Amino acid sequence: MTDFSTKLIQWHEDKGRKNLPWQKNPNPYKVWISEVMLQQTQVSTVIPYFKKFIKTFPNIKKLSESDLDKILVLWSGLGYYARARNIYKASQIINNDYGGKVPNTLKKLMSLPGIGKSTAGAILVFGYKKRSAILDGNVKRVLTRYFKIEKDLSLTSTTNYLWKISESLIPKHKVDIYTQSIMDLGATVCTKNNPNCKNCPINKSCLALQEGLAQSLPFIRKPKKKPTKKVLWLLPRSPKGDLLMYKRKDKRLWGELWSFIDLEGEKKEIIEHEVQRRFLVKNPKLKKLNKVKHSFSHYNLEAIPYLAELETKKSYKNAVWVNPKNVKSLALPGPVKELFITLQNYENC
Ligand code: ADE
Repeated sequence: MTDFSTKLIQWHEDKGRKNLPWQKNPNPYKVWISEVMLQQTQVSTVIPYFKKFIKTFPNIKKLSESDLDKILVLWSGLGYYARARNIYKASQIINNDYGGKVPNTLKKLMSLPGIGKSTAGAILVFGYKKRSAILDGNVKRVLTRYFKIEKDLSLTSTTNYLWKISESLIPKHKVDIYTQSIMDLGATVCTKNNPNCKNCPINKSCLALQEGLAQSLPFIRKPKKKPTKKVLWLLPRSPKGDLLMYKRKDKRLWGELWSFIDLEGEKKEIIEHEVQRRFLVKNPKLKKLNKVKHSFSHYNLEAIPYLAELETKKSYKNAVWVNPKNVKSLALPGPVKELFITLQNYENC
């Protein structure tokens, strides 16, 4: 074994994370779900979602027999909902094509929706104790610093190079402990800002540290500034205080989740016009609520919500009237969920 992996395995014994919920009685199914949840989300956020998910769907059979709505309710607030839709699709494939067992080769795993090379590697390592490489954000940071790789991390050629390095470092034994250790080192010691080099188990041979470059690596070409998308949200409200929500069909954003009518623009007149068009109400009573801001990977969203008081409560296609107290049963995007919490605090609105 290399010095690199030996030191990391030793460090894990003392400092690595050993009590994460997906590490207790692990199986490939639990590993798969946890790894997908961890793709874009921090460990502390994932924990409660993971526990609830596994309690509701303890195995693939239960998951594949469920419907997407139920999965999205459990995912509500975790973001990147394509992950939940992909998990659902993959569960059907695993049930139909693999006899209900998570496949155990890189190729088969990577053919499933939502499983890339690093997630597939993690499933093999943690679920099957097989030798496989991973390359998530934490691992990239550790490797670029340790080997002083100054190439632009946003280039595919750099990623390919890092894959080669990651593959060359897999130890012959204890691959699961080694893998957990390098992830944990990246998350807790070799952090993006203020890395704790003094307490790093591999500091003696870290090339970036030797040259005073730990803070400035990895080098990532500055991404372009994200654009801001400004929208209006229309919240029709019945005399009894129920709100009209629609199931979104737009796959690009919050597909299959419940949200409000959204309209491009910022002006109140747009809302007035829409209320008149949809509900045939002239000069509606409107109340502007606080702006909702949310950051997505490629743009920032700013939404101005308006309550529109209606005098009747009719049924509409793809829509439901919901009392703010009963929203728990619906799959809502995080910012919509937050708006509901604020609404519950507005007593007289
Ligand atoms: N990030 C991705 N996979 C992880 C794991 N198994 N433990 C901690 N953080 C992770």
